[in-house]
Amino acid sequence: MGRVFVAGSINMDVVVTAERHPKVGETVAGKEVLYFPGGKGANQAVSAAKQGVLTTLIGRLGEDTFGRELRTFLAAQSIDLGLVKDTAGVHTGTAVITVANSDNTIVVVPGANGVVDAADVAAASLAKDDVAVSQFEIPLPAISAFFRRARASGATTILNPAPARAVGEELLALVDILVLNETELSLLTGAELGENDELMYFIEAARPLRSNDRSICITLGRRGVLALVGGEAMLIPARKVKAIDTTGAGDCFVGALAAGLAQGTPIREALTYANAAASICVQRMGAAPSMPTAAEVTEVLSR
Ligand code: ATP
Ligand code: RIB
Repeated sequence: MGRVFVAGSINMDVVVTAERHPKVGETVAGKEVLYFPGGKGANQAVSAAKQGVLTTLIGRLGEDTFGRELRTFLAAQSIDLGLVKDTAGVHTGTAVITVANSDNTIVVVPGANGVVDAADVAAASLAKDDVAVSQFEIPLPAISAFFRRARASGATTILNPAPARAVGEELLALVDILVLNETELSLLTGAELGENDELMYFIEAARPLRSNDRSICITLGRRGVLALVGGEAMLIPARKVKAIDTTGAGDCFVGALAAGLAQGTPIREALTYANAAASICVQRMGAAPSMPTAAEVTEVLSR
């Protein structure tokens, strides 16, 4: 069985809940303030580790209270933190999140995540059956160096280009599986897309990102996942659930997909598994703590 290596961000999520999101310039009364471990890298690592796959996280924390709390939480999820460095002079990554009507807005301040570099990923000893995962909350040179190492060792690479920003050809060429939502697909391709568009628009928009051996998974929230694998397009419909907080749903999907592939599960089956995992995540508050266990996902799939 392979392992999962995640190079990415680690944040403390400061979450406020409210009846509705304020408009620009407006103040609304909130209900609660909650603190949850988060950050796309940490969330994806937690999601993979909870599926029972050996998972290593590569990243940075500040030498502060949030950093210490996050390290304790991540260690308790059985994640290998040997490549997570404490860094002086920077604060731990922090995301300020507003949740209202099960939807969120996020402002993320990178702090220590912003100084992850190519040397940080150099110590990852990847092998052929492993899966290397990254996102866009750490600097691009670190991601490129990580994927070059992964490719050299024959590992599979998954890029989740979130938050949305352009991907250069050189980095894209190192990606085996691209997992992105419609906002990221719009930004990467220049296509104008809305979440309710016909599936054909998404398939057409993704054309410039496709290559013979690259799979593309477009996560469509409550519509599910549209996957383009080996020239074939398939929709995996979302499971019918009542979403409470979708923060980290995409991360849950990516981590569970990576875990499935590391376990040798064929990609189509791994996508169905990850879709079920994400349906559990959206029914819970918070990012990293809402990732389901393998037993929970198996139970949902048996219904
Ligand atoms: P985030 O940035 O909040 O992590 P995202 O935009 O990257 O999310 P989404 O497309 O919203 O990701 O959701 C990822 C996956 O989570 C979906 O493809 C689906 O499998 C699942 N999901 C999301 N919302 C729902 C929902 N309301 N009901 C069931 N499953 C959902
Ligand atoms: O994808 C969700 C994550 O994005 C949150 O946990 C927050 O930290 C931001 O990075």
